[in-house]
Amino acid sequence: MKKLVIGNWKMDPSDSKSALKIVKGVVKGLSKIKNIDVVVCPPFLFLPELVKKTRSKKLQFGAQDIAAFPEGSHTGEISGVQLKTVGTSHAIIGHSERRALGETNELIAQKVETSLQNKLHVVLCIGERRRDESNGKHLEFLKTELLESLVHVDEKELKNITIAYEPIWAIGAEEAMHPEQIHEMSIFIKKVLSEKFGPESGMKTRIIYGGSVNSANIEEIMRDGHIDGVLPGRASRDPKEFNEIVRVVAEK
Ligand code: PGA
Repeated sequence: MKKLVIGNWKMDPSDSKSALKIVKGVVKGLSKIKNIDVVVCPPFLFLPELVKKTRSKKLQFGAQDIAAFPEGSHTGEISGVQLKTVGTSHAIIGHSERRALGETNELIAQKVETSLQNKLHVVLCIGERRRDESNGKHLEFLKTELLESLVHVDEKELKNITIAYEPIWAIGAEEAMHPEQIHEMSIFIKKVLSEKFGPESGMKTRIIYGGSVNSANIEEIMRDGHIDGVLPGRASRDPKEFNEIVRVVAEK
């Protein structure tokens, strides 16, 4: 399984010139990088131009969100077909910042379904708001999030899905989650997937981590976290930072 680094630019930058500059910087850093999926997710607005102007096959583009419906009257939404048409290959679904705006597991499950129908690789985000080591309630919470978001998925579609484990308290924070805990959580997620889809597919699913990943902690996260990639936010808008993250992940 190829590792994945997927950068979520969120609502930055403010203009297309700056967006193009970031992409150019990222592409430069990819010249010697092999055997890894590298994706950036700019704001929707910049996607068509960035895809058109990027010659490198090493960089792919993703959406930060997708409409839950294939077509129809949905003001302000962007459909899977539209994303596919402009050359998008991945879709982040269920990011905690979207969930905070009211997205439910049910809606997210529809988004997963429409993404798969449009052959977009799904990066499904799950993560607990807080951990409670005394009763393990956060594990129950995660299990529900995961299973409810995947209700429309069958075993053979699982290969088109990556799970991004993003504990909410570690997003936009000063420090990432402890790598040993990341490892534990990825085992837990694989166990839940194996129970639902069978061990063969469950164990093979790509699990990545997100939450304050940067060039300073990536080495440790990959070494002790034993995961299949990362989803940086802030660090993905700086090509130098992002390229260093990609370099370390590609070497592991
Ligand atoms: P961060 O964001 O890397 O800035 O913490 C991660 C995310 O929002 O997925």
